[in-house]
Amino acid sequence: MAYAKPKIAILATGGTIAGSIDSSVATTGYTAGVVGVDVLIQAVPQIKDLAEISGQQIANIDSSNMTDEIQLKLAKEINKLFASGIDGVVITHGTDTMEETAYFLNLTIKSDKPVVLVGAMRPSTAISADGPKNLYNAVALAADKQSKGKGVMVAMNDKIQSARGVVKTHSLNVDAFSSPDFGDLGYIVDGKIFFYNNVAKEHTKKSPFDVSKLTALPKVDILYTYSNDGSGAAAKALVADGAKGLVIAGSGAGSIHQNQKEVLKELLKQGVSVVVSSRVVAGRVAVGDTDAKLGFISAEDLNPQKARILLALALTKTSDPKKIQEYFLKY
Ligand code: SIN
Repeated sequence: MAYAKPKIAILATGGTIAGSIDSSVATTGYTAGVVGVDVLIQAVPQIKDLAEISGQQIANIDSSNMTDEIQLKLAKEINKLFASGIDGVVITHGTDTMEETAYFLNLTIKSDKPVVLVGAMRPSTAISADGPKNLYNAVALAADKQSKGKGVMVAMNDKIQSARGVVKTHSLNVDAFSSPDFGDLGYIVDGKIFFYNNVAKEHTKKSPFDVSKLTALPKVDILYTYSNDGSGAAAKALVADGAKGLVIAGSGAGSIHQNQKEVLKELLKQGVSVVVSSRVVAGRVAVGDTDAKLGFISAEDLNPQKARILLALALTKTSDPKKIQEYFLKY
């Protein structure tokens, strides 16, 4: 009997992998999100040996312009594709906010079929562009039976990272992604998949967040703390602008300058949700009992940009800080 190749859908959203500039030596100053999905697929004909490929353009943007709307569109489309018999999904995405979309999908896809995000650090026009090899690896990962149930993953520079763990840790190098709290999930070598690690937290089918009927998410913004952090004016302004939740990039294990903290205590009394994350690259945030009683929530080991994603989804279900804290411990 002929071997049936897995059906993999490639959903394109833009980024450097689809970037272009009229100089083959330029790796900055290009325009991201120019090349379409068909061209990306044609550039790597070898992926057709791995899977039956279909392509769809979801957006074509620089991922610094990523929105809740595009992330919701992606989640709904992927859930639809899986229900229609697609075996795995690859998303081409800008690297700047890839970890945010990956984590959002990790919490909103209702299937244990593989979802893999992939991008590039060099535009498609560059000498030694990394996009084609990364795309080949991503398709190999999405097509591999071992990938089932692993949650959403990122395939960059021959490494496999989990959506929850992965962080962009270099601004320009092709080895731009790592997982400071987890380590790599595994590696892709000559199209073969090797897993060495497992995901500890719950995701996808076990996540409680259902976005199928949502057209928008509660507004959540991020604020830094820093030396000489002043009057809390930014926190007040964001709430006045409609923020239902704030994530604080605290210092160390989550400390916040007292000037800003006093304002946050007032905002907590008004019903604003406040999650404390950290500016530090690795480790967990410790919110003491006194602060927890006031309503401060620990982001655990999630960085501010991922804590923002989880808080926005949590607020679709509850504004109870204890319940939201449970989500941060579990997902
Ligand atoms: C982007 O995130 O869209 C631009 C940068 C990149 O993809 O590396």
